[in-house]
Amino acid sequence: MQNRITKSNIYKFFGSLFLLFLFCCYTASSQNYDKNRAETLYRYQCSKCHRNTGKGIKYVYPPLKNSDYIRKETTVELLRGMIYGRSGVIVVNGESYNGVMTTEIDLALSDNDIALILTYVLNEMNGISKVVEAREVQTAKKAGKLPVKK
Ligand code: HEC
Repeated sequence: MQNRITKSNIYKFFGSLFLLFLFCCYTASSQNYDKNRAETLYRYQCSKCHRNTGKGIKYVYPPLKNSDYIRKETTVELLRGMIYGRSGVIVVNGESYNGVMTTEIDLALSDNDIALILTYVLNEMNGISKVVEAREVQTAKKAGKLPVKK
């Protein structure tokens, strides 16, 4: 078969380029984390207070969904709260909470799983596309408990 520049070859060429382009878009947009596992962990560890949807319970448990607090806090601070608990006054979406979250997370979980829970909260509840890394969990563990805000 001759390798000539025919109309049909040109179509094939651009057709393949287009498919490659679609493939790249797909892989770039899909977050590289196990969402099912993340959701199971979240439900098991967090939803009894923050609820399955993350909307919390008004005046008692602050929302994790669309939380302005989560948007402005760093990943490591959020992890410190998750790992060591948090208490004192906290304002979330204009509502003030003064509760105690003890260490609710099962500390037998691996750093990867702890990271996965926050990845889930960020991506699925706050539209922040970020995959939290085990390395950040280690940093948070070293940094210890958050200071209590009065
Ligand atoms: C026993 C109930 C309880 C459980 C379980 C719990 N929390 Fe909380 N959480 C709270 C309370 C109460 C506060 C507010 C603490 C304060 O007043 O400082 C809070 C605050 C927070 C905050 C900061 C405020 C906000 O809404 O943005 C984050 C983030 C958070 N929790 C994440 C988690 C995650 C992730 C889990 C699961 C690993 C979890 N919590 C499990 C009760 C709970």
